[in-house]
Amino acid sequence: MLVKALVTAAATASLVTAQELMRFGCAQLTVDRVDPLVEPGNMPSAHMHQIIGGNSFNASMEPSNVDPPTDSTCTSCTYSEDFSNYWTASVYFKARNGTFKRVPQYTNLGLGTKAGMTIYYIRGYQQSAKVTAFPKGFRMLVGDSTNRAANKVPKAESLRWGALHGLRHSWLPEAALRRRLAGDGDLPLVLGRQEHGLPDHKSHIAYPNGAFEMGSACPSTHPVKIPQVMYEIIFDTRQFNNKAEWPADGSQPFYWSFGDNTGYGIHGDYLFGWKDNALQKAMDGHCANDRCAPLKRQTEAQANACLKSQSFKESIGDDQWLKELPGMAM
Ligand SMILES: *[C@@H]1O[C@H](CO)[C@@H](O)[C@H](O)[C@H]1NC(C)=O
Ligand SMILES: *[C@@H]1O[C@H](CO)[C@@H](O)[C@H](O)[C@H]1NC(C)=O
Repeated sequence: MLVKALVTAAATASLVTAQELMRFGCAQLTVDRVDPLVEPGNMPSAHMHQIIGGNSFNASMEPSNVDPPTDSTCTSCTYSEDFSNYWTASVYFKARNGTFKRVPQYTNLGLGTKAGMTIYYIRGYQQSAKVTAFPKGFRMLVGDSTNRAANKVPKAESLRWGALHGLRHSWLPEAALRRRLAGDGDLPLVLGRQEHGLPDHKSHIAYPNGAFEMGSACPSTHPVKIPQVMYEIIFDTRQFNNKAEWPADGSQPFYWSFGDNTGYGIHGDYLFGWKDNALQKAMDGHCANDRCAPLKRQTEAQANACLKSQSFKESIGDDQWLKELPGMAM
């Protein structure tokens, strides 16, 4: 899957038509210490995650015991046949006194889903390209929570941070957990892309030999062209703009929930769960944006209403300051 860079609002709109990219909102399903890919069965998982998609999500789900379209009773995505799960670590703000609060996500421009993420499925510029939807049970993972150096981030352009300067508000560049790429000062966004899943959930997927969007060839070891999946997550850091609350030593105050304030441990997880052949129809039908004839859609209010209660009960740090990141006690 991928989580990829964004652009300004205007640029996003033109990309949408140029690339035939499906772009749709998925509201927050839950924030929980659960990770069926990296730590199947572990409850709680080592660090906090933010999860969207079908409500069959749980710690021990495997292709053999859970079929998201069958086992879910709702999805937090507006494409109502998408019961996939998409998740990443959460982000926290560390205050001067050493306590943490979770950074909420912000609803993307033009979408009505609450918090959560904006999901893109991209087939690329080539009209004639055959893009094969993921098979049932498919999973993938990109990035590595133990990375702390830029040169260890896979495909640097695939996982990235940016700072928004004006989606609807004026965002301070320093107010985003960031590793700003030279020259991207006016680009909004966050993200990364991942194309990946087997025991390591990575080696069954490979990056093309060049830009995916331009139709670059797949490596001979991985000849089937699959959709590029991108997660766009906008963290709303505005409540943490007061520098007097930032760490006194000048360190970067935003942390991934696994204790990383370099940002390089960025990673994302994907568990395919589209109903029947809906995703294939979307690829073949050159679907764009969040309304597309072959696909069923629910209202934003219905997507927002799909919530899953926390499996591991603890404070996630929304209403109170936490002494340590959940699960990260030293
Ligand atoms: C997850 O869902 C599967 C399938 O419904 C079930 O067998 C399993 O017990 C569930 N695990 C948890 C931790 O809820
Ligand atoms: C820690 O800092 C936060 C942010 O400034 C503040 O709201 C909170 O009350 C402080 N907690 C303690 C125990 O001092």
